[in-house]
Amino acid sequence: MGRYFVPFGKGSRSCIGVQLAYVLLYHTIAHLFRPGAPKLLLHETNECDVTPMRGFLFALLKRDSKGLRVIPVNGSEPTDDM
Ligand code: HEM
Repeated sequence: MGRYFVPFGKGSRSCIGVQLAYVLLYHTIAHLFRPGAPKLLLHETNECDVTPMRGFLFALLKRDSKGLRVIPVNGSEPTDDM
């Protein structure tokens, strides 16, 4: 499977930001799911926004979907630090 997973390309013109990209991805995920993390409230999102409807190589959402959107909430107030 790993053989076919090449999000950063391969070879001499592959992505030079791959290490930074992984740092940012891990940091974001750790921040969102650490103990005491803000709650994530679904925002204008329903099942259509997470269900692939079209696409051949890539699973794509319906054309007018904005995808899964959430509002981070600390306690009862939305936070602005995300
Ligand atoms: C999730 C994040 C990222 C993905 C999925 C991604 C993906 C890619 C892909 C597919 C390529 C083309 C590789 C090819 O032509 O074979 C590329 C090239 C490149 N990426 Fe990224 N990238 C990401 C983040 C970054 C970051 C954070 C930087 C810089 C800080 C960056 C800098 C570059 C540069 C400069 C190239 C051109 C390399 C060249 O043509 O020699 N990328 N990236």
